[in-house]
Amino acid sequence: MYRLRILDAVQFRKLVTMDDVIPGVKEAYKLFSSGKAGLFPIITHEFDPGRTDMDIKSAYMDGAGIYGLKILGWNRDNPSVLGVPALAGLIVVMDIERQQPIGILEGTPVTFLRTGAAGAIGAESLARPESVNAVVVGSGAQGRAQIMGLSKVMHKLKNIDVFDAQDIYAEKMAEDISPNYPGIKITARPFSSLKNYVKNADIVVTCTPSKEAFIMYGWLKKGCHINTIGADMAGKQEIDPEITATVKVFGDSRIQVAQKGECQHALSRGMISSEQITEIGEVLNGTRLGRTSADEITMFDATGMALQDLMTAKVALERAESLNIGVVVEMEQ
Ligand SMILES: NC(=O)c1ccc[n+]([C@@H]2O[C@H](COP(=O)([O-])OP(=O)(O)OC[C@H]3O[C@@H](n4cnc5c(N)ncnc54)[C@H](O)[C@@H]3O)[C@@H](O)[C@H]2O)c1
Repeated sequence: MYRLRILDAVQFRKLVTMDDVIPGVKEAYKLFSSGKAGLFPIITHEFDPGRTDMDIKSAYMDGAGIYGLKILGWNRDNPSVLGVPALAGLIVVMDIERQQPIGILEGTPVTFLRTGAAGAIGAESLARPESVNAVVVGSGAQGRAQIMGLSKVMHKLKNIDVFDAQDIYAEKMAEDISPNYPGIKITARPFSSLKNYVKNADIVVTCTPSKEAFIMYGWLKKGCHINTIGADMAGKQEIDPEITATVKVFGDSRIQVAQKGECQHALSRGMISSEQITEIGEVLNGTRLGRTSADEITMFDATGMALQDLMTAKVALERAESLNIGVVVEMEQ
């Protein structure tokens, strides 16, 4: 007999906050870059290309005693036809020593926090601590998650200018979330004015599903840090590869950023080599340097790893156990 805990989105959100998730994701990056955690090959399938697809991302963390997977399904038409989100899925966590399942969680709120935490860690580790002005491009779920993450670690931030290809989404996001950040002025700007704001930004975050660059070479000011979040599969692109070729590049996984991240475009054109990419876990472990001068431009290519989901799920499951939250199923075997 063993016990399996099931947590839905409402229970998860009550149990963990961005503050709880940032240290867990940091630990996941550190374990990964020191060989104590790894990723299994990603499985993807398109049922009806452009309309319905799925992927399964899985990972193991010897260093944390768990392994598991996230399965995500996507149906483009769900919001308009069924009135439900396009993306939905589950996280399954297994115990390495006992080889038994320990938890099942709804995937979307975990993705939200763990990706916001990735952006936070990128900025905290690489941006100049005195950064005041940020630009966030993409005003969907990740726009919100990225602002939440930045607000936790960049204590001098005063202005966040938000953008979206559809200006109305940026306006809606600024209106919705401004009350949550009393010390930061969050302002929606027309997408057509992006260049003017990027030129003055200390931190730039891109979090859209774009397949074409919209931040161009020469726009970023000296000392700027950019988190590229949106590019998480082959073909996605948010920034000019000339930027990647001329800044100091960091990524979550050296292999994955080459296949799915923003780095894919500069690498495939021979503009950089993969040895030039430093993993964020190497910076956190102190084995490679992060920013070395106030003037250099740094970039963190965050493609997303199942390790982040598993570590976040672990934090939630441990807390749920101590507070007796969630549905516990007694499993026979
Ligand atoms: N790296 C990771 O770990 C990770 C995690 C989650 C999501 N993502 C990726 O981040 C991206 C955004 O995810 P989301 O959940 O916020 O999606 P979303 O659909 O909630 O929001 C995306 C927003 O981007 C806007 N947009 C689309 N194309 C644009 C463009 N070319 N320029 C400016 N704005 C544009 C849309 O209008 C929309 O408001 C996706 O590509 C997603 O796959 C990455």
